[in-house]
Amino acid sequence: MAHNLLKGKRGIIFGALDKRSIAWKVAQVAKAEGAEFTLTNAPIAMRMGAINQLAEECGSEIIPADATSIEDLENLFTKSMEILGGKIDFVLHSIGMSPNVRKGRDYGNLNYDWLTKTLDVSAISFHKVMQTAEKLDAMNEWGSIMALSYIAAQRSFPDYSDMAQAKAMLESIARSYGERFARLKKVRVNTISQSPTMTTAGSGVGGFDVFFSYADKMSPLGNATAEDCANYCVTMFSDMTKMVTMQNLMHDGGFSSSGITDDLIEQLTKE
Ligand SMILES: NC(=O)c1ccc[n+]([C@@H]2O[C@H](COP(=O)([O-])OP(=O)(O)OC[C@H]3O[C@@H](n4cnc5c(N)ncnc54)[C@H](O)[C@@H]3O)[C@@H](O)[C@H]2O)c1
Repeated sequence: MAHNLLKGKRGIIFGALDKRSIAWKVAQVAKAEGAEFTLTNAPIAMRMGAINQLAEECGSEIIPADATSIEDLENLFTKSMEILGGKIDFVLHSIGMSPNVRKGRDYGNLNYDWLTKTLDVSAISFHKVMQTAEKLDAMNEWGSIMALSYIAAQRSFPDYSDMAQAKAMLESIARSYGERFARLKKVRVNTISQSPTMTTAGSGVGGFDVFFSYADKMSPLGNATAEDCANYCVTMFSDMTKMVTMQNLMHDGGFSSSGITDDLIEQLTKE
């Protein structure tokens, strides 16, 4: 049931690759809640073509942008304001990629050029998005900017490799830019730390199935789904959460506060 939470709001949604993408679900919920937005992804991801289907469903235009390219980001914000007819109220950064993870490089044998790429795509791009928005004066007051993170920023998860450093940096950028944007334009900046989710980026991490079911058992409510995450993002874009900024918000069914759960005790007792 929709509540018109985003009626009259204009947004930009990064990172919808296919139906499983968290950004895909966010677009669907944002549309149902009355928002107008543009969709964007890296030009290379567009070749798969799935995003056209989402654009049609949401009545949105697609503007390709590599989130590491300032030129692309300037074009994205400028065109989005033209198409949507005004400044932007919300931005979703739903982007992650590590060449070291993708190519199965061991953490003790990282390729440092790839590490730089991981950080640029998965974290520094968040700064680039906000710096571009500030320079173009593209955000409305009380706007909301969100990125998606993972608890590997705080705890070690061996197969997550250099993405752990990227997420730690992403959360740090949210705090630093959040302070600046609040002062300058009352824009708020937060990250949502999401449960493991069956998507292309998620399942690219080694041993993901075990990872997923462990987290599910360690979370009293179970893992949060992509749909749950979309609902949370949309409330964060709405005026109902106006005073929340510079936070890393755990969206994990209780995983981050659990020592052990009955489910796990039962399983380990059986073994
Ligand atoms: N899936 C999970 O388990 C999980 C858990 C916590 C957080 N997250 C985070 O959620 C976000 C979305 O991931 P997802 O799980 O929906 O997977 P996904 O693979 O559907 O989305 C990742 C997106 O990043 C885009 N991308 C990669 N390089 C880019 C670039 N240079 N410029 C612009 N876009 C680029 C991809 O095209 C893709 O659309 C990521 O930040 C991810 O780390 C995912």
